Amino acid sequence: MTLTIGILVGSLREGSYNRQAAKAFAALLPTDVTPVWLTIGDLPLYNEDLDAATPPPAWTAFRAQVAALDGVMFFTPEYNRSVPGGLKNALDVGSRPYGHNVWAGKPALVVSVSPGGIGGFGANHHLRQALTFLDMPTLQQPEAYIGNVANLLDDNGHFVDGTTKYFKLILTAYLAFLKKLQ
Ligand SMILES: Cc1cc2nc3c(=O)[nH]c(=O)nc-3n(C[C@H](O)[C@H](O)[C@H](O)COP(=O)(O)O)c2cc1C
Repeated sequence: MTLTIGILVGSLREGSYNRQAAKAFAALLPTDVTPVWLTIGDLPLYNEDLDAATPPPAWTAFRAQVAALDGVMFFTPEYNRSVPGGLKNALDVGSRPYGHNVWAGKPALVVSVSPGGIGGFGANHHLRQALTFLDMPTLQQPEAYIGNVANLLDDNGHFVDGTTKYFKLILTAYLAFLKKLQ
């Protein structure tokens, strides 16, 4: 069975640690899993009035892209103990119009990555709260709070072996969880 899995990175910046972690996960995907990189930086802020008329083309394209996925892996920074606004906006865009939530039923993985010691715990759990309402079954264990991230990268910007091994463990658990729910 081939699977298509979305990768959504909550950071917009070029040198994002979260993007680096997402790339490391993508590199570990088996050949029967196709990654789809979801871009969120060009989504206009959610406004119900726009859904009542002709929705922005960027919303329509994003919704169609998400609807076609088998699952979604989220990589989130922590901004002020929560998720970045751009990530929350993407969740909101995909959740509407009412009754057309494209996230529903898609198994999710939540990874939070931070240079800070608590590994984006606040963002990780705020995201989980929204995913519960969006009806996305979310991997519970192992949890993925990747803290002190700058210390987990070698001089070439690659994650050190112990971290890559941990990423593999998380990914294996997520894929097994997803397949069980298919
Ligand atoms: C607006 C803002 C708020 C932040 N708040 C937190 C925070 O609450 N906790 C934390 O660990 N780091 C916080 N940071 C630091 C981020 O963890 C750091 O910038 C990180 O590199 C962002 O992820 P990225 O590398 O994927 O872009 C904040 C950064 C910004 C720009």
